[in-house]
Amino acid sequence: MKEYMDPIFDQFEQGKVSTEYVLKELANKKPKESNPNYCDMKESKALEELNDLIGLKDVKEIVEEILAVVMIQKIRKESGLKHEPLVSHMIFKGNPGTGKTTVARLIGQIFSDIQLLEKGHIIEVERADLVGEYIGHTAVKVREHIRKALGGVMFIDEAYSLCRGGKKDFGKEAIDALVKGMEDYKEQFILILAGYTDEMDDFLRTNPGLKSRFPIHIDFPDYTLEDLLKIAEVMLEDREYTISIGAKEKLTNILKKHTKQGDIYSGNARLVRNIVEKSIRKQALRLKTTKKFTRSDLITLKKQDVMEGEENV
Ligand SMILES: Nc1ncnc2c1ncn2[C@@H]1O[C@H](COP(=O)(O)OP(=O)(O)O)[C@@H](O)[C@H]1O
Ligand SMILES: [Mg+2]
Repeated sequence: MKEYMDPIFDQFEQGKVSTEYVLKELANKKPKESNPNYCDMKESKALEELNDLIGLKDVKEIVEEILAVVMIQKIRKESGLKHEPLVSHMIFKGNPGTGKTTVARLIGQIFSDIQLLEKGHIIEVERADLVGEYIGHTAVKVREHIRKALGGVMFIDEAYSLCRGGKKDFGKEAIDALVKGMEDYKEQFILILAGYTDEMDDFLRTNPGLKSRFPIHIDFPDYTLEDLLKIAEVMLEDREYTISIGAKEKLTNILKKHTKQGDIYSGNARLVRNIVEKSIRKQALRLKTTKKFTRSDLITLKKQDVMEGEENV
């Protein structure tokens, strides 16, 4: 720990300088100079990517807050000061397509950028990966996945499905094994449980021991129509496409039809992605039959190209 400390502490210990002098010196220094492990948040590409996501205002604020806390606690620890343990397990609540998996992936990378996680990768698991079929099987499966997640994030989508198998099911055992893993590998991985808001609340109510282990809860609200249109724009730009005015109108109408706020089937950003991908396929078919086309034709999606993906119809 000591090697991270500013050399001024040595001088202080040897009685060469006063407390006042130390404080004044430290105040004049950027954290990076007094601590080589300090990482300026602006240097994280993943953080930039997170901040570039459309909407998600609360998510961004909470992530900034978590980052500030974990970094200061880390520096306090390295400076020999009292510090809270860095428990960063999280609960993500929201409908499908609201960005939960995307944000989990970025958080893993951000935490690795600030050296809180060794690797920052994400392991996505579901009930079948964790719940075994015979006595003893479950603990083995859970341990195996925790091992894979070490240094990164374990992301369990629809986490409540763990306790939905009835009396003879091993789901409860999976939860116990997860809790044990969280103890055994403290600070070595982050567990993120995700799912629909109501179901997650019920799940945590019926497992109070579990709830207390997740200090961070983040809500992922449905995107507004405006946000969804911006998301479509970003997705098209990334793929080097643009849409005609007529096409945009049609897209807006389709999105309007699906975006009743709070409708768990609205699809959110996933709906947008499906429409974008389907429309690109339709445009390709149209162009293929015309045989002759310009660069502008290649780029532009027209009204007749814009379609809902099969998943949404
Ligand atoms: N704010 C956003 N800006 C741009 N694209 C987004 C945004 N949120 C989600 N997406 C995209 O929508 C799709 C679904 O998002 P995902 O993170 O899988 O949602 P969830 O895990 O909540 O179901 C992904 O392709 C993702 O890249
Ligand atoms: Mg997801």
